[in-house]
Amino acid sequence: MSKKLKIRCLISAGPTREWIDPVRFISNPSSGKMGYALAEAAKNLDMEVSLISGPVNLRCPQGVQLVRIETALEMQEVMNAHFEKADLIIMCAAVSDHRPSKIYERKLRKNEFPDKIILKRNPDILKILGGRKKNQVLVGFAAETNEIMISAKRKLKEKNLDWIVANDVSKSDIGFSSDKNEVTLISADGFLKQIPSTNKSKIAKEILDVIYPSCLKKVR
Ligand code: PMT
Repeated sequence: MSKKLKIRCLISAGPTREWIDPVRFISNPSSGKMGYALAEAAKNLDMEVSLISGPVNLRCPQGVQLVRIETALEMQEVMNAHFEKADLIIMCAAVSDHRPSKIYERKLRKNEFPDKIILKRNPDILKILGGRKKNQVLVGFAAETNEIMISAKRKLKEKNLDWIVANDVSKSDIGFSSDKNEVTLISADGFLKQIPSTNKSKIAKEILDVIYPSCLKKVR
């Protein structure tokens, strides 16, 4: 009897923290809800799921392998290590584009705190994975406040993705932190599906239902 092949799915979720000193960091309002909902939906489709997560207050879905990270550099290291063996990669994390160029070892006192913090660019993890892509299905998110479709399509191309999920993050009832979301799923060959406002579990299920057939083709 032939063994059923499982799709190996790698998902990133949550924010990164870029430390200034032991008590201060640069971050963003990602709660991890969208990424964790995707991990649960992938597991429900019988995928083998690894979830690479920034610091969030959520319980890992049952049966999902969780790797916790804090910084963008840590996320890059873990994503790189898991990438080769994955069939489907979904980068839902809100990775900080910058980190302080200097991390102070002890807490800075008020009068020691610099007026200006010099920042360094973090690596674009997804773009680097796009450059390494062989047979994998690579999915990104685009968190946008304006020119949403134009920017999402640009990121899809620049990062060599198969799909991008355009996410309007200008509203308080969808996007960052909220329980609901509203997205447009765009494929590299021009397919477009709008998913109207609903809870993140349903959004995750709809995204995966659309992407699933293209993953099956790759593992067979
Ligand atoms: O966590 P929640 O509160 O549920 O909110 C969900 C969400 C709004 C965070 C999520 O739906 C979302 O939109 N995630 C993407 C956030 C983001 O960083 O978007 P971006 O447009 O800045 O980046 C584009 C893509 O490149 C993303 O897939 C991102 O993970 C990736 N990226 C970005 C910067 C970087 N240095 N490395 C990356 O890999």
